[in-house]
Amino acid sequence: FSDFLIDNFHRQHDYLRISLTERCNLRCVYCMPEEGVPLSPQKELLTTPEVIMLSSLFVSQGVTKIRLTGGEPTVRRDILPLMRQIGELRPHGLRELCLTTNGLALHRKLDGMVEAGLTGVNLSLDTLDPWQFQIMTRRKGFDAVMKSIERVLELNKHGAGIKLKINSVVMRGVNDREIIPFVEMTREKDIEVRFIEYMPFDGNKWNKGKMFSYSEMLGLIKEKYPQLEKLEGHKNDTSKSYRIPGFVGSLGFITSMTHNFCGTCNRLRITSDGNLKVCLFGNAEVSLRDILRQSNNGEPIDEAAFEAMKQIEMNRKQGQGGDFSPLGLAPNEQELLSVIG
Ligand code: GTP
Ligand code: 5AD
Ligand code: SF4
Repeated sequence: FSDFLIDNFHRQHDYLRISLTERCNLRCVYCMPEEGVPLSPQKELLTTPEVIMLSSLFVSQGVTKIRLTGGEPTVRRDILPLMRQIGELRPHGLRELCLTTNGLALHRKLDGMVEAGLTGVNLSLDTLDPWQFQIMTRRKGFDAVMKSIERVLELNKHGAGIKLKINSVVMRGVNDREIIPFVEMTREKDIEVRFIEYMPFDGNKWNKGKMFSYSEMLGLIKEKYPQLEKLEGHKNDTSKSYRIPGFVGSLGFITSMTHNFCGTCNRLRITSDGNLKVCLFGNAEVSLRDILRQSNNGEPIDEAAFEAMKQIEMNRKQGQGGDFSPLGLAPNEQELLSVIG
């Protein structure tokens, strides 16, 4: 493991998230305004060869998992060739190639992605009601998303082995009544349904009244399924796992607001314009794109990139009482909410 991927708190950053685009074909109410987000000029975005060069560099240094995100990664036209080239890093140490997607276009591209080496899909779906879907995403497309889910399960029946998770952001008064139907989905399907606490982002009109906390979700689920049991999680999971005995799938809770998981965070991020960050909410960024482009496309960039990493790593705090939860410190819900006001 290269020491530039280990920070001064001994966290090994073996998980790289790469954003492939800022664009999205939905407008989820908790994420984007109706008009979308401002887009960077094309020339500022990483090209596919640049994405591959960076992936290859990080894998050579010890990254074992790459997750492609967005915006919506499937709107990138060359997503398939791009994934194929990342898939070729498997003999060099890449073990997992995952995608976070809204599932709208996934069913059309999934088979090619599996051939490329896709091992996991995290699919965002906040409702099982087509009308509610249109309200929450401001677009049509429920049937296409369900088709994508079915296609993943179908391929898995034939041994594809794709780990499927559904991400569901719970908003009070909007989709909280769907918690139980989502739990029911795990009865027969091998899916991990993860309920996410609604987080504030620039301009998403977050308010604490709409946030539905982990403890509330647990209470609600336990009332209907008293046999709910906690599972031993993996060290770097963002979610806390549970299952209902006899159900095929499992449940997870992403508790960024009330119980942060910074202390065990192992993620690095590259934004679509090529900035390296360690934290979703941290401000420290270094442009790997500029380093790449100054290196005349091809000269070794390792040293400069290592320097950049060190610079960011040194800024990283320990988490769990450090400053990498959305609002600074989040030792508990009450304290957090008093900060937000
Ligand atoms: P895996 O653990 O690989 O399944 O992925 P993930 O859960 O990290 O990623 P995904 O893209 O599915 O994101 C799920 C949720 O976790 C989203 O709501 C993200 O905003 C949130 N999330 C991802 N990384 C972080 C992080 O570093 N900090 C916080 N607070 N939230 C995060
Ligand atoms: N709060 C919580 N989760 C969010 N996501 C997007 N915006 C928010 C928010 N404000 C989730 C999406 C997707 C994942 C990548 O991030 O549902 O599944
Ligand atoms: Fe945001 Fe994802 Fe919804 Fe697109 S699908 S608007 S990126 S949450």
